[in-house]
Amino acid sequence: MVSPRFNSAKTIVITGSSSGIGLATARHFLDKGWQVVATMRDPDDAPSWMADSRVLVLRVDVTDLASLENGVAAAIARFGAIDVMFANAGYGLNGPLEGASEAQMLRQYDVNVFGVARTIQAVAPHMRERGGGTILVTSSIGGRIGMPAAPFYISSKHAVEGLIESARFELQPFGVRLKLIEPGGIRTDFSARSAAWTHHPAYADAIAATRRMAVDLLENMPEPAEVAKVVYAAANDRSSRLRYAAKPGPYLLLYRLLPDRVWRGMIEAALHRAARQTDKSARQATAAPA
Ligand SMILES: NC(=O)c1ccc[n+]([C@@H]2O[C@H](COP(=O)([O-])OP(=O)(O)OC[C@H]3O[C@@H](n4cnc5c(N)ncnc54)[C@H](OP(=O)(O)O)[C@@H]3O)[C@@H](O)[C@H]2O)c1
Repeated sequence: MVSPRFNSAKTIVITGSSSGIGLATARHFLDKGWQVVATMRDPDDAPSWMADSRVLVLRVDVTDLASLENGVAAAIARFGAIDVMFANAGYGLNGPLEGASEAQMLRQYDVNVFGVARTIQAVAPHMRERGGGTILVTSSIGGRIGMPAAPFYISSKHAVEGLIESARFELQPFGVRLKLIEPGGIRTDFSARSAAWTHHPAYADAIAATRRMAVDLLENMPEPAEVAKVVYAAANDRSSRLRYAAKPGPYLLLYRLLPDRVWRGMIEAALHRAARQTDKSARQATAAPA
């Protein structure tokens, strides 16, 4: 049975809306007149503006299918229907492949890849029954390009790209669209609070350099509100377009245009610069008077 919509406003459900891109997207859709179901692991993290009657804050952990199914049921009970699901929750496991523990590897895929699959499993029955809906998934420019320093994160986003590009054919006959949002580097909690690191003594210098590079790069990154605008455009355009880059920076274009040897040289040069900078900072710290 097609569930009734309680009013003319549309409804979006967002995972990972406590901070960064999810939070900015919740605000953007609310400002545009949508009803917003802001899901997060700890509802105490919700900002005060989420007390609005058009916002429903729910506890959801994407590693727990039951919490996603409960969230979908609560959203439908409150607003009547879900027009858009934004599967956004995710985090980055950084550091060398050799340093990753079994638990770190499994956790990265559990959240970033299987978390997206569970989110779709939870909302797809509702959207199929209604005969329509849009599922947007946060991938990354790192889902298209192999980058240094975070092999598990980057490969998890490659997996997300393959998952969505394939699953869209299953849901398209039911009128359900799957789309990928591909941000470049964005100034959020991603590289700080949310980041996890692998450790290995053989790569200690490389880890220090990439940690530093991540912090430096973040300073000049676009705000998550820029991604929220792209999410809004993807939700509202009537096409079945698959990919939406969001402030991608120059890397995707360079990766496509440059021969691999030139691309690789460029990335290696950036890593060497970061290593030299880290050495210099370490020397200055040692030389500084106590
Ligand atoms: N920032 C970037 O440069 C960038 C670039 C490309 C793609 N992305 C992607 O953008 C998405 C959002 O990240 P962000 O940049 O906005 O970083 P963020 O500020 O750290 O936000 C990540 C969100 O994911 C949530 N989350 C993590 N594990 C979860 C779980 N098991 N269940 C439910 N929620 C969980 C976090 O919740 P808690 O508050 O509970 O930790 C937080 O709300 C991620 O998928 C990330 O990979 C980010």
